[in-house]
Amino acid sequence: MVQERILVVDDDEGLLRLLTMRLSAMGFDVTTCMTGEEALAVAKREVFDLALTDLRLPDLDGLSVLEELRLIHPDLPVLLLTAHGSIPNAVEAMQKGAFGYLTKPFDDKELKTTLEKALAQQRMSREIQRLKLLVKELYGLENVAARSPKMQALLEQVARVAESDATICISGETGTGKEVIARVIHCNSKRARGPFIAINCGAIPESLFESELFGHVKGAFTSAQSSKRGLFQMAEGGTLFLDEIGEMPLNLQVKLLRAIQEREVMAVGAERPTKVNVRIITSTNKDLSAAVRAGAFREDLYYRIQVFPITVPPLRERRDDIPLLAQHFLQQSARRMHKEMRGILPAAMQKLMLYSWPGNVRELENVIEKVVVLTNQDMITPDLLPTSTESTEGQVKPLTEAKEEFERNYLKEVLQLTGGNISRAAQIAARYRADFYKLLKKHGLHPGDAKEEKDTDSAESA
Ligand SMILES: Nc1ncnc2c1ncn2[C@@H]1O[C@H](COP(=O)(O)OP(=O)(O)OP(=O)(O)O)[C@@H](O)[C@H]1O
Ligand SMILES: [Mg+2]
Repeated sequence: MVQERILVVDDDEGLLRLLTMRLSAMGFDVTTCMTGEEALAVAKREVFDLALTDLRLPDLDGLSVLEELRLIHPDLPVLLLTAHGSIPNAVEAMQKGAFGYLTKPFDDKELKTTLEKALAQQRMSREIQRLKLLVKELYGLENVAARSPKMQALLEQVARVAESDATICISGETGTGKEVIARVIHCNSKRARGPFIAINCGAIPESLFESELFGHVKGAFTSAQSSKRGLFQMAEGGTLFLDEIGEMPLNLQVKLLRAIQEREVMAVGAERPTKVNVRIITSTNKDLSAAVRAGAFREDLYYRIQVFPITVPPLRERRDDIPLLAQHFLQQSARRMHKEMRGILPAAMQKLMLYSWPGNVRELENVIEKVVVLTNQDMITPDLLPTSTESTEGQVKPLTEAKEEFERNYLKEVLQLTGGNISRAAQIAARYRADFYKLLKKHGLHPGDAKEEKDTDSAESA
């Protein structure tokens, strides 16, 4: 662990020596100053985790040192050393932002607990800041892997709507990055400091939905032993992401509509509605307009949430994003698994670009992760990657369609083989000539096509 740094300011040389000894024994890195001016000069040059300063100094008084220090480093916890009987000063110090004070003389234990308290808080606020930065980094517009013109256009759209409070509906196939986009919108909106609450509407049992969303008051139903805030209330000042909105039960859709329209929610068992300040983003991988036609989704709610529709295109329609995404996931997986990975071989990248990705970005992420686990090389090689004919679920065609396709390809092949000679082709296919003709007609094929192909083939190879 890095040593934490403490700045100690006191004009009493004996005390400085004593403190240095004690603090060093506790494992801190100590810097001492005997005047206020000197302390401020040091603080401007170096970073400390905590400052300990006497209230009475020869040049400046401790309070102005405190104020100056906090101007230089707003997050620096400052502890004051006060002589017995200077409590009023200490109160003022606290008002000016001191973390606390120690009354001289203090013992080792007192010093240690006070320091630990201040440093713990300091560590925590640093951690929060770090996480905030990380989230901003992860979901900043510039960090979404998006090179294709389609995604560039989408991000432009996102940048335009993020600022406003417009209700947004994000649609797209499974695994295309709908939630990523929702988070990007939140993180780039004026609500970024507020909460982002996500809920999968398909995952909540219908009986719990209302209380989950709007909360309940104590005694609203038998198991409601205390009141509970709903997700709407939890998202106050931020964004509520209703994932898979198409899965929401019809009877709740009307309540959601009311909440969106009136900007207020009614907790289960409550007498009055409560105002909420929440931005709604929804997502769906279903065709909601079809659901409306089928009577499974309310039309009024549909129009309410579609104020600003955004469609995330499937990965196969934006293949230019594949290299960037693949590199991104490779780095991520390698880091997570503590493996040294150099990159992706061109042949492997080509295979990734050709694959049809029925599971979209999530599937790509899983494939890369699997390869990183399996490989004992530091480059990704093509043999470990799926080939487009290795059918994954979404790629399997309905039987009739598959049969038709097979039949057509088969006919073409036989024709090519025989150079368009119908009698021989029919013979190979074990069909009567007339039947074979019928099949060709059904698929819009002509014996002549094969001849030409064969001719050009042989012409080229000659
Ligand atoms: N543009 C992108 N850049 C980096 N990572 C991405 C991007 N798009 C998607 N991902 C990653 O792909 C995975 C799937 O994304 P996400 O969960 O947002 O998709 P989804 O459309 O909400 O999926 P589902 O329909 O299954 O809910 C996540 O791990 C996400 O981090
Ligand atoms: Mg999702």
